[in-house]
Amino acid sequence: MKDLRKEYRLKALNDDGLPADPFTQFGIWFDEAVKAALIEPNAMMLATADASAVPSLRAVLLKSWSNAGFVFFTNYNSRKGRDLAANPRAALLFYWNELERQVRIEGQVSRTSRDVSKEYFSARPREAQLAALASAQSSPIASRSELEAKYSKAKLDCEGQPIDCPAHWGGYIVRPQRFEFWQGRESRLHDRIEFLAVGDRWNYRRLSP
Ligand SMILES: Cc1cc2nc3c(=O)[nH]c(=O)nc-3n(C[C@H](O)[C@H](O)[C@H](O)COP(=O)(O)O)c2cc1C
Repeated sequence: MKDLRKEYRLKALNDDGLPADPFTQFGIWFDEAVKAALIEPNAMMLATADASAVPSLRAVLLKSWSNAGFVFFTNYNSRKGRDLAANPRAALLFYWNELERQVRIEGQVSRTSRDVSKEYFSARPREAQLAALASAQSSPIASRSELEAKYSKAKLDCEGQPIDCPAHWGGYIVRPQRFEFWQGRESRLHDRIEFLAVGDRWNYRRLSP
């Protein structure tokens, strides 16, 4: 491991020209991640904690974002869904290795409206809709073949009909209260810019690396 060491030299994050709000900054970096042809630049790590403050972390896909928040979709009965029911706060992390960047976001979480969930569900490929019906996400299943049998049954049951968004499936929106933009720099003197929500305004400050 001691030889796995890299200098970060690609870019800088200067105070000059920094937008006044973190959403604009996120948009600039997200567009650059897309233009750099990264694989799934919208993959983000989602950290939650249960009622006893036990943390858990997994990847999910960002499906939309705006100044209102960051949206992903999942099974409401999954572990993350149970965590969020008990403790509606989360942290997100985008790690764009090729750009030597990470973005951290923290905030309150709520479910998206049923209409938003339905609209997104109806736009998913049919295979993904069937998988959402067949999989009780995060609960144990005896075997791979049992999962495939549940998928085949759902496929047969729904043949020739549109598939409605199941009640246990839908979106969450993370409403940010904190952002941090991290740009790797030489000699481990990285740039870290934090934005904190104060009422409806954003304060920013530089953090030590
Ligand atoms: C790149 C990537 C993207 C993923 N996107 C999603 C997603 O958008 N929604 C989802 O429910 N699970 C997604 N998963 C699977 C989750 O990481 C996780 O296995 C699943 O949601 C169950 O997590 P939980 O038991 O903590 O609830 C993704 C996994 C990877 C590796």
